[in-house]
Amino acid sequence: MSMSEPIVDIRNLSKQFTSHDGGLTLALDRVSLQIEPGQFVSVVGPSGCGKSTLLAILAGVMDRSDGQVLLRGAEVKGPRRDVGVMFQEALLLPYRTVLQNIMLPAIIHRLPQAEYLERAKQLIKLVQLEGFNDRYPSELSGGMQQRAAIARGLLHDPAILLMDEPFGALDAMTREQMNLDLLDIWSAARKTVMLITHSISEAVFLSDRVIVMSPRPGRIVDTLDIDLPRPRSLAMMATPEFGAYAERIRARLGLRGSAE
Ligand SMILES: Nc1ncnc2c1ncn2[C@@H]1O[C@H](COP(=O)(O)OP(=O)(O)OP(=O)(O)O)[C@@H](O)[C@H]1O
Ligand SMILES: [Mg+2]
Repeated sequence: MSMSEPIVDIRNLSKQFTSHDGGLTLALDRVSLQIEPGQFVSVVGPSGCGKSTLLAILAGVMDRSDGQVLLRGAEVKGPRRDVGVMFQEALLLPYRTVLQNIMLPAIIHRLPQAEYLERAKQLIKLVQLEGFNDRYPSELSGGMQQRAAIARGLLHDPAILLMDEPFGALDAMTREQMNLDLLDIWSAARKTVMLITHSISEAVFLSDRVIVMSPRPGRIVDTLDIDLPRPRSLAMMATPEFGAYAERIRARLGLRGSAE
C-alpha cells in the first residue's frame, strides 16, 4: 500500500431504508469520504443524520444502496478482521467477564486462543483495568465498561477502529479523562480511528479531521483539518484556535452562538 492510498475510500455512498409500512427514508445521500492511514477522524451531525448507518456500512454489517465503499483497496462485503467496532448500543455482554468480553473477537474470528489471551491481558493493562479480568460488566463503572469495550475493539489488531458515540453516557469529567485515555491508546497502538460523536469539543480535541454532516438525508457539509499540535492537552480547549474550529462547526450545524 502506498503512503497516499487512503485506508477508507467511500465514494457517493447512499443508503435508503424501507420501513415496515413501505415508507422510504433516504439516510445517506452521496457521501464521499477518504481517510488516510493513522488518521483520527470524527464525524459530527444532528441525531438521525445517518452517522450510525455510515459506520454500520463501513463495518460490513449493513448493505449499501448505492456507491462504493473500499477498505484498504478492497470492497466491503461483510465484517472484516481488519476492522474493530464499538457500536452505539451493546457495549459488553453482561454474562461474560471483562476478560471473556475482550476475548470475543478471537472467538468470532477463530484466532489462536492462547496467543490472544496474552494479548487480551496486555490490552487490559493498556486500558488500565488490571485486577478486573474476572469481574462482570455490571460490577464496573460506565467509564471502565467503555475502556473494556475499547480493549475488545483492539484485540484482533484491526487497522481501523470504528467508534459510535463511545462516551455518550459519561459525565463531563469522566468523559474528558476518557478522551485523554483514548489519545494515549491511539498513539500507542497507531490505529486509524473513525469516531462518531455529538460533542463538538470532543471532535476538535481528538481529531486530525472533523467531518460535519447535514440533517437527514445525511450529506457531508464541511471537512475541517484540525491543525492543533500533538500531544493534545485539555488546556488547548481554551485557546482561540480551538474556539475558532468549534465555532465553525457550530455554524455549519446551524448552531451559531448557541452553547453546545
Ligand atoms: N434499520 C432501519 N430501518 C429503517 N430506518 C432506519 C434504520 N436504521 C436507521 N434508520 C433511519 O435512518 C436515519 C439515520 O439513522 P442513524 O441511526 O444512522 O442516525 P444517527 O445519525 O446515528 O443518529 P443518532 O445521533 O441519534 O445516533 C434515521 O432517520 C433512522 O430512522
Ligand atoms: Mg447513531
